[in-house]
Amino acid sequence: MPEVRGILPRGGTVLGSSRTNPFADDGGPARIAENLAAAGVDGLIAIGGEDTLGAASRLHEEHELPVIGVPKTIDNDLGATDYTFGFDTAINIAMEAIDRLHTTADSHHRVLIVEVMGRHAGWIAFHAGLAGGANIILIPERKFDVEQVCDLVGRRFASHFAPIIVVAEGAEPEGGVPSAEADKLDAFGHVRLGGVGHWLEGEIERRTGKETRATVLGHVQRGGTPTAFDRVLATRFGLHAIDAADAGKWGTMTALRGTDIQLVQLTEATAELKTVPESLYAEAEVFFG
Ligand code: F6P
Repeated sequence: MPEVRGILPRGGTVLGSSRTNPFADDGGPARIAENLAAAGVDGLIAIGGEDTLGAASRLHEEHELPVIGVPKTIDNDLGATDYTFGFDTAINIAMEAIDRLHTTADSHHRVLIVEVMGRHAGWIAFHAGLAGGANIILIPERKFDVEQVCDLVGRRFASHFAPIIVVAEGAEPEGGVPSAEADKLDAFGHVRLGGVGHWLEGEIERRTGKETRATVLGHVQRGGTPTAFDRVLATRFGLHAIDAADAGKWGTMTALRGTDIQLVQLTEATAELKTVPESLYAEAEVFFG
């Protein structure tokens, strides 16, 4: 197929599509149906996360459009699949960033904070933090106590090393913190997250007197060439999605369960947000400080 030749090492989209909410527009779903019919499209394979697949599921359930879902998000937060593609690439980029920050942390004896994405799930922070040897990992699933973070910072300096803190964009301190972007909503009504890293920078510097700097990785985590794991997973999802379309199994989604690809109901895809379990976070806590 010449249309897809050479796309394995490419990130992002070759169609130029982006996350958008067809239900936010009057007559959006009907226009999609018309456009698909006019273009002679037999079925739509929707590739994305919670929002894209939520909209895809509604297009199938409420408008009987022939849709199959494929789970792709760096957040890895879809309950129906063990992994989404994009996640492995994002955590490797974040891990490499942390690896590079160790140099400055150690030579300048500063507290370095890395803010990573992930929305309301701490998967990126957890995996990148553990793989990069972070001294503290803060995730949305567990509110953090700034004083306790400062104690851990002190403990790290006492061992003659400087601390690296990985904070998920959705992490919140006890008592809450105004998100810098809280007034900005996207087409799905989600708050734009971000800002906790710089907030924490100010708090730690004020409370400990130690120079503290935050790095916000942002969309860097979503770009570049995919890892081998993501390429294989995306290719396998693609194969199974085509088979499902061939068999007319509309309204389903490909999911990774263990090492097998299975088909699940598309409604299941977004039914439950998959978050970092307490027991897993406890494993990372062993290395804090
Ligand atoms: O869902 C993927 C994701 O990258 C989240 O981790 C992040 O909060 C969000 O998208 C950012 O979206 P946007 O670029 O539209 O602000």
